[in-house]
Amino acid sequence: MRKTWLIHASVLGIALLAGVGLLLFSRRQPARASSGRGAYFFKQPRTCGQCHPEIFNEWVTSRHSLSAPAANPFFEAVRRRVSDESGSQAARDCLSCHAPVAAALEDWDFEERISRWGISCDFCHSVTGMQASLHFPGFMIRSDNIKRGPYGDANPRGHQAEYSELHTRSRFCLECHRDMLAGPAPLGCVSGADTPIHDDSISCQRCHMPAARRKVCTTRGIRERDDVFQHRWGGSRDREMLRQAASLQAEVRDSTLRVTLRSGFLAHPFPAGPPFRLVAVQVHAQDARGQTVWRNWTSDPLLEAPEAACARVLADEGGRPVPFWRAQRTLRDSRLLPGENRTLEIRLPPEARACRIELLYFLAPPSFLEDLDIRDRAFTEPRIVDETELSW
Ligand code: HEC
Ligand code: HEC
Ligand code: HEC
Ligand code: HEC
Ligand code: HEC
Repeated sequence: MRKTWLIHASVLGIALLAGVGLLLFSRRQPARASSGRGAYFFKQPRTCGQCHPEIFNEWVTSRHSLSAPAANPFFEAVRRRVSDESGSQAARDCLSCHAPVAAALEDWDFEERISRWGISCDFCHSVTGMQASLHFPGFMIRSDNIKRGPYGDANPRGHQAEYSELHTRSRFCLECHRDMLAGPAPLGCVSGADTPIHDDSISCQRCHMPAARRKVCTTRGIRERDDVFQHRWGGSRDREMLRQAASLQAEVRDSTLRVTLRSGFLAHPFPAGPPFRLVAVQVHAQDARGQTVWRNWTSDPLLEAPEAACARVLADEGGRPVPFWRAQRTLRDSRLLPGENRTLEIRLPPEARACRIELLYFLAPPSFLEDLDIRDRAFTEPRIVDETELSW
């Protein structure tokens, strides 16, 4: 006998749907290998890593292991701001996606070690199905010894296995990476709705969990497979992923620079992800002596050269730009669409004889991070998507 629960939807006042069960998986495990409260029990990722070390090593550096408040200071700063403005319940609600184990255990103070891991192995692999939920991921979780995954012929040790078609589908990911809500609720930090691909002609997993030929685990007697999916979930923080998103080309005629942005191998607008991601073309013009004489912007492209930016600007009812947790609508959306080529015309000063053009990626606009007092370069430093040089 097992238990099934729906991950909480506290704002909607939906109580946990508890089944009856006698067999609590974790009670048969060493005390420190897993933790649980009330209805849920989750194993420590390191326990899974004993047999699945490669997958563990990928996951442990991925954003999914770093999503909880203690590991992501940017997330925590925004969450504190939301808490100040809208109260502690609103701040708890963030955890249903960012620290789903803490939310499932209702461990709001992170007393359990397992809660601090963010989105961990035993969370994703205990998902048995989904139940529609407007604001929160509606995962059905079973705390038992069966791990759900992509194979129909797994021969596991230490646990049982069950084929789960859901895990191979985009909608598994989109339950958290879901549409930004429109209507009475404020817009969220996510943007799944932009993804034109909801039909799995190419799933999120194909690009974000590419297959490799290797063994699923180190257990003796296990053969290699061609379709062992990587657990890195590269996004903009992955240099290769970022470079494949877009490229630029440039030419100069009569002091006018024409920069063409070309969308790369993408399934969603660029930049994808939270509405505060920002991409911008920066031009550094030099004179005949190689001195930089002009830039199209210096510190904040959204304020200084919005035409050179690919981004969304969110607004409140009155049309004033506001951060996502207060936003009711999109004021402007200039992100690069899949398949799009876009040309910008930029007037250069007459003394310019050369220029360097960079396509830069910001996790968030500099002014936004400054306002939150985030100074860690891992968040503030822009990354280069592509760059080129011209002289004449
Ligand atoms: C965000 C959810 C998520 C997390 C966290 C996660 N997995 Fe997975 N895992 C998946 C999905 C989805 C697949 C199947 C991918 C597919 O079919 O395209 C998978 C596949 C697997 C497989 C089958 C072999 C393979 O790599 O395809 C194993 C084993 C596995 N995961 C173990 C783990 C372990 C161990 C951890 C923690 C170190 C972990 N997973 C963390 C979602 C997750
Ligand atoms: C004692 C070793 C061991 C431990 C510990 C272990 N696994 Fe496994 N796991 C295996 C083996 C062996 C397989 C089968 C590999 C194969 O058939 O190629 C497997 C397969 C899987 C699969 C694929 C299931 C399917 O049908 O697609 C998933 C998912 C998985 N493990 C997740 C986990 C998670 C999550 C943990 C931690 C809670 C974990 N494993 C801990 C040995 C282990
Ligand atoms: C339980 C909710 C949840 C599920 C399920 C989930 N994700 Fe995530 N994912 C997140 C959160 C939250 C973050 C942001 C973590 C952070 O940066 O602090 C994230 C980050 C990412 C990133 C990296 C974003 C970045 O900023 O670098 C990628 C790519 C990604 N997820 C893809 C996937 C894919 C593909 C799947 C399905 C196999 C999936 N996710 C399933 C919640 C989830
Ligand atoms: C054709 C390949 C492809 C497919 C399919 C795809 N993505 Fe992406 N995705 C990318 C690339 C390349 C990037 C890096 C550019 C960027 O950050 O916008 C990216 C970025 C992201 C990011 C942003 C990471 C960040 O740093 O903020 C998220 C989140 C994401 N993808 C989620 C998804 C989800 C969810 C799906 C399925 C609905 C999906 N992707 C399908 C290629 C793909
Ligand atoms: C429905 C699930 C969900 C909820 C609820 C949610 N988030 Fe997110 N959040 C995500 C996902 C998924 C990402 C990764 C980017 C993406 O997919 O667009 C993310 C990314 C972020 C990031 C960027 C992290 C980084 O380092 O790049 C911040 C900051 C953030 N969210 C803050 C919040 C705050 C604060 C709340 C509560 C008010 C919240 N989120 C509620 C799913 C959610």
